[in-house]
Amino acid sequence: MAKRDLIIRIGGEGGEGVISSGDFIAAACARAGLDVYTFKTFPAEIKGGYAMYQVRASAERVYNQGDTFDVLCVFNGEAFEVNKSQMRPGTAVVYDYPGGDFEPGELPPGVFGYPIPMTQAAKDMKSIRSKNMVALGALSVLFNIHESTLVGALTKKFGKKGKEVLDFNLQGFAKGKELAAKLTKQDPWRLADVQDPKDIIVIAGNDAVGLGAVMGGLEFFSAYPITPATEIAKYVATHLPKRGNHLIQAEDEIASISQVIGASYAGLKSMTATSGPGLALMSEMLGMASMSETPVMVVDVQRGGPSTGLPTKHEQSDLFLAIHGAHGDAPRVVLSVEDVHDCVDMTIEALNLAEEYQCPVILLSDGSLAFSTQTIPAPKPASYTIVNRRRWDGQGTYKRYEFTPDHISPMADPGTPNAMHIATGLEHGETGAPNWRPENHWAMHEKRFNKLNRIVDTYRPTEIDGSGDADVGVITWGSTIGVVREAVQRLRAEGLKVKGFYPKLMWPMPVQQYEAFAATCKKILVPEVNYQGQLAHFIRAETSIKPIRFNICGGLPFTPAMIVAKVKELI
Ligand code: COA
Repeated sequence: MAKRDLIIRIGGEGGEGVISSGDFIAAACARAGLDVYTFKTFPAEIKGGYAMYQVRASAERVYNQGDTFDVLCVFNGEAFEVNKSQMRPGTAVVYDYPGGDFEPGELPPGVFGYPIPMTQAAKDMKSIRSKNMVALGALSVLFNIHESTLVGALTKKFGKKGKEVLDFNLQGFAKGKELAAKLTKQDPWRLADVQDPKDIIVIAGNDAVGLGAVMGGLEFFSAYPITPATEIAKYVATHLPKRGNHLIQAEDEIASISQVIGASYAGLKSMTATSGPGLALMSEMLGMASMSETPVMVVDVQRGGPSTGLPTKHEQSDLFLAIHGAHGDAPRVVLSVEDVHDCVDMTIEALNLAEEYQCPVILLSDGSLAFSTQTIPAPKPASYTIVNRRRWDGQGTYKRYEFTPDHISPMADPGTPNAMHIATGLEHGETGAPNWRPENHWAMHEKRFNKLNRIVDTYRPTEIDGSGDADVGVITWGSTIGVVREAVQRLRAEGLKVKGFYPKLMWPMPVQQYEAFAATCKKILVPEVNYQGQLAHFIRAETSIKPIRFNICGGLPFTPAMIVAKVKELI
């Protein structure tokens, strides 16, 4: 590679196999020992509309999908047009010609073009579905993408669809190689040779949440399918029953959270996974979990909203809902994830916190991370601490909501001798019996909130990226952290004084840490993928900081270049 990383983008129509092709390339890049970060975006329709898959592979750690592509492969005219403005001198473009649905005309100056008749070749083989494999074969020759990994991946995937399907795809792949071999390579882009790295896995964000859940000791899962969270249920459905644990596909989100509360009350470590509309439906029952001090974990894979909104697109716009989507004063913990590795770690942590503090914990992921595949070190179960709830030791008189110094009351599973108590959403006294007295309601609120305030002091300090004073401090959350990390690195490499602050504990807010960071920065910039500036709003409400909002909401993530430009403008 002439530069440290290579970005390959594939564009086409939903249903043409853009996503499968991208997955195969990502697997091959990982085999080459490269750090891989992928981004995909596709329409809400099953067929039709523009679908895109971007693979960024680098010899160094990559934190995001990158600014734009070095290599573009387009299956149709729409994908060519959508991406034309981003072609620049040095870009390599592989396109469906002749025989495709468009005439590319003259390419922009300095762009290297590789016409491959993908549609025509697939038609000639009487298997139009293999068009994407013709493209893949061509890409493998042109950019040194490891052939046996690609063939292995496509054999694994399409072999399940029958011999005939596998055969025409293998033929398509071979035809693509043959067509590309006739072209003259002009651009500098090629992948490193294969190295077969050890102890690395390639995994998508949703699967990583599922992996974290299984490693974190999950015993019960219930969910209703919703884009972009469904793969979490798919992963858990494959792995949880094998361990003798339990899973239900509920009839809706209200049922799923109710089942999770019931299972947890019965003694099982329990969670659900949903997206914004599902979390909104769960809000009443989350109040029940807060009131009954029942440990429950909810993963919200955020998508563009409100309502059905942009179900397959990226957004970070459920922070208001996660923190304040409740009736009454209902304490909960809200965490967020930064990248795919974090999806494993933070899922385990969220389950731990729910058990430790006996309350709802909401973990915010997002549409970009859900489908993003990344190379991560294979997680080692022994390196994680697993926390289970404090159980009643059977001594003395059992009081479910006993006032204790740390405000956490031991739990007894239903059926435990001498631990009979009333379980209710009504306000209650120490024994669990309903109690409406003013002083009791007040005291129980203090118990529930003081329990959580401790988290701010005990949770690991928020990461600060950089040291000393800065002209601009960038505070951000979720998958935008990866974009800001790279932007901050680039700006500092240019000699600019910039720092980053990357909270994972979104609520309760570690206010003093925000204040201490801001005291070292002349200006605070808060980039977020939502319209209202939801984290910036909480910063204004809870701290003395006056953040500068920087919001986008087009269904796509920020790029490092956007953050770099904004920070330079502020400086
Ligand atoms: N030969 C045979 N089958 C092939 C193939 C080939 N060469 N290339 C792809 N396929 C299959 C894939 O295996 C997949 O089928 P599967 O689901 O049985 O595995 C299917 O064709 C789609 O291909 P894929 O590569 O996964 O996606 P795509 O790039 O064609 O885009 C999507 C299709 C993903 C955009 C679309 O199917 C989708 O899921 N849209 C989103 C729907 C949604 O969530 N809506 C929101 C509701 S609220």
